[in-house]
Amino acid sequence: MKIEGNTVLITGGATGIGFALAKAFVENGNEVIICGRRKDKLKEAKNNLPKLNTIECDISKEYSREMLYKEITSNFNDTNILINNAGIHKIIDFKKGMVDLFTSSEDEIDINLKAPIYLASYFIPNFMNKNESAIINVSSGLAFVPLASMPIYCATKAALHSWSVSLRYQLKDTSIKIFEVMPPIVDTDFHKEDRDKIKNRSLPPTAVAEETLKALEKDEYEIPIGVAKSLRFVNTDNFEQIFQERNKQQ
Ligand SMILES: NC(=O)c1ccc[n+]([C@@H]2O[C@H](COP(=O)([O-])OP(=O)(O)OC[C@H]3O[C@@H](n4cnc5c(N)ncnc54)[C@H](OP(=O)(O)O)[C@@H]3O)[C@@H](O)[C@H]2O)c1
Repeated sequence: MKIEGNTVLITGGATGIGFALAKAFVENGNEVIICGRRKDKLKEAKNNLPKLNTIECDISKEYSREMLYKEITSNFNDTNILINNAGIHKIIDFKKGMVDLFTSSEDEIDINLKAPIYLASYFIPNFMNKNESAIINVSSGLAFVPLASMPIYCATKAALHSWSVSLRYQLKDTSIKIFEVMPPIVDTDFHKEDRDKIKNRSLPPTAVAEETLKALEKDEYEIPIGVAKSLRFVNTDNFEQIFQERNKQQ
């Protein structure tokens, strides 16, 4: 896949991994549009990187996804890369019944799984008419070995992986390439409550962006990064041991 001269839409592109990807794509000569819910974060991203285009959007809402698709096809009709990056995570203790599920109005299944599927479905017919196009799903090493404290988050990422595999197969005879980025722990606002805890074992978001662009250029469709490389290929012989060890560390 060429990594210059594209038009790239990045969900959740104002912060963290999304912003690092946005910066790397801009620096490589691509047009980049980012979207997110918080106006102040979009403005901050634009101040840091004036070439960015920004759109306010809540990808968990169907009307907002439809509005995003219409705005992209009206104003950025050359868009040929969709990066499904936006995501949230919650700590959920099922011993409390429904309590943790209602700690906020945000829904991990809607944001991490349903939104990428629906956005991709909007863009696929349009992308099939482009010479070369791509959908890049940002999953996680936790898709392969879950952390029990974030059970829904890990399940959404495992589902995102499974869907990416099927989508790649369905679209193999089209111009659309399906990539999946599997980050390890990355130092972003995702960890704003436990930044100190992760500081010695996290990567900077720029490292994720750098590895992603290198892999895109080589058409490496699965992009496990750092420790996610070993998690991706955990097999049935050692799964239980690795699962137990990683969950004890928490
Ligand atoms: N950091 C890690 O350790 C790590 C590891 C593996 C995978 N990942 C994945 O990497 C992706 C990016 O996370 P990050 O670490 O860069 O964290 P982050 O800085 O918190 O980025 C998440 C982004 O998603 C946006 N977002 C959330 N809900 C949204 C919605 N409903 N509509 C539109 N945008 C929404 C947020 O913006 P608004 O709140 O303004 O909408 C924010 O810009 C996520 O999918 C995450 O699961 C992260």
